[in-house]
Amino acid sequence: MKRANPITKAVVPAAGSGTRLYPLTKVQPKEMMPVGPRPAIQAVVEELAVAGLTDILVIVAPGKSVLEAHLDGEEGRRAESGREPWAAEFADPDVRLYFTRQNPPRGLGDAVACAERFVGDEDFVVALGDAVITGGPEPFSRRLVAAHQASGAAATVGVRRIRPEESSRYGVIAVAGERQGVLRVSDLVEKPNPEQAPSDLAICGRYVLSPGIFTHLRDLPPGHGGEIQVTDAIAALARAGELVQALPLGAEELRLDVGNFGSYSRAFVRAMAADPELGADFRDYLRQLVSHLEDSANPDPDRVTDD
Ligand code: G1P
Repeated sequence: MKRANPITKAVVPAAGSGTRLYPLTKVQPKEMMPVGPRPAIQAVVEELAVAGLTDILVIVAPGKSVLEAHLDGEEGRRAESGREPWAAEFADPDVRLYFTRQNPPRGLGDAVACAERFVGDEDFVVALGDAVITGGPEPFSRRLVAAHQASGAAATVGVRRIRPEESSRYGVIAVAGERQGVLRVSDLVEKPNPEQAPSDLAICGRYVLSPGIFTHLRDLPPGHGGEIQVTDAIAALARAGELVQALPLGAEELRLDVGNFGSYSRAFVRAMAADPELGADFRDYLRQLVSHLEDSANPDPDRVTDD
């Protein structure tokens, strides 16, 4: 059965504690960490808005109301602040943002479960508030929705290739087949050790789910880290015989990861260096900085000298 109804609802979980970025995220939510010249969550909301998701529910934790203040303010909604080529399309005043609290936060699956009433009986997108996807000719979630609707799947997840040693940071899929670039998924494992990882394809923070997910979320025991995992609920869908599929990021699409200091600093530097307005100056600075740090005889771009 193919579902023809447009998908217009999206859920943005943003209630994680961000402990891997302490002390930066002790007071400031990790979704507010700048990735280039804008906070991560702003990039996520822009992607969703351009993909046609007009009703967006942001799930925050107590003490993270700054997210609401930012996204509700002018700054969060202005099309001109978009950094992707397609961002100009985000001039839509009809995008409605909603906020709810996950209290206490009991994992990503529990966050998604908070959206049950908002979602009703419609398929919906989940986009993690700290997972920025950049590049490509159109928002990734638009491609994901199209792949989901073309097949009538119960769940379609975005994935990307990872190095074997990274598997313990992500949900990893087992692949049962492929059709026109879309993978059929037979199982999903949350944060497996490299020896146990069923493939090198990790969930990249974008999902399209049918409301059937809520039944499984309700019945789930705590999974990895003692938390309710959305990965486990999707695996339960697959085990129940439902179609679960995955769409890999395209050649030009890249996921920027705010997760820890190493990945965060790369995400920030990359987004700055590729920025359409600020990138050229920043790349120039980086070149000079690196050549100075590698050989102190080269000029220091942060120091004014006589010569
Ligand atoms: C979550 C998901 C994981 C996914 C990852 C993507 O993990 O549980 O399956 O691969 O996001 O960023 P978290 O980073 O919240 O621990």
